Amino acid sequence: MPFSFHQGDALTVLASLPDDAVDAVITDPPYNSGGRTAKERTNRTAKQKYSSAKDLADFTGENMDQRSYGFFLTQNLTEAYRITRPSGSALIFTDWRQLPITSDALQAAGWLWRGVLTWHKPAARPQKGRFKQDCEYILWATKGPVDAERNPVYLPGLYSASQPRKGRKHITEKPVSVMRELCKITAPGGTVLDFCAGSGSTGVAALLEGYDFIGIEKTQHYAEIAADRLTETVRQISTQDDFALAGPE
Ligand SMILES: C[S@@+](CC[C@H](N)C(=O)[O-])C[C@H]1O[C@@H](n2cnc3c(N)ncnc32)[C@H](O)[C@@H]1O
Repeated sequence: MPFSFHQGDALTVLASLPDDAVDAVITDPPYNSGGRTAKERTNRTAKQKYSSAKDLADFTGENMDQRSYGFFLTQNLTEAYRITRPSGSALIFTDWRQLPITSDALQAAGWLWRGVLTWHKPAARPQKGRFKQDCEYILWATKGPVDAERNPVYLPGLYSASQPRKGRKHITEKPVSVMRELCKITAPGGTVLDFCAGSGSTGVAALLEGYDFIGIEKTQHYAEIAADRLTETVRQISTQDDFALAGPE
């Protein structure tokens, strides 16, 4: 099987994985953002924070205060660093508010911070008297020097795609088209790790790009959705089901 998937707490599962097991960590942790005050950020569920959540299930890990969030990221990124091969990359999603704590945690965990990529969401609502908040960010870091001979790619710093609407499975689901492009930072034939996998978008993208995948997700409901999506992606690839592979975002 080109993927393994674990339902459980990221730190516990990461501790069970061997050194040098993956070539890239690409993950979208709960942002613990979404509120003007600390109280708003820690007292509301993910569903209450995201107005577009509608009938989608809640997920865990959205109510940490700022110091706890820093520790959560640092601990998990430290284990992820140990598990990543030298010259491998970390790509960590965040929003504008949590960008500073995420870059602090990434560096405290030993990663060499290399830059910030932008995910632009063209369908975001304009807001009267304000700047449109139509971007999220992806911090890029490496475990030591970049090995451009092993992976001689030229990748953009800006990715534009709306959040999936039709058939959306997760409150904060990322577009597979964007995730496929991001996966290309992984050396050919490598393994991608996502320790906050949600509905499995990173894994679907990694498999479609020809990588192996290790996923971890704590919320049971989303772990089941991710495992099903990954199994279906493997089936489509193995049967060359081109119509399904090109299916909705
Ligand atoms: C922002 S969502 C990821 C969405 C995903 N990118 C997608 O496209 O579906 C973050 C996920 O991390 C999970 N999570 C939160 N705390 C966790 C933990 N300690 N260990 C593993 N997963 C966790 C949540 O349940 C949630 O599904």
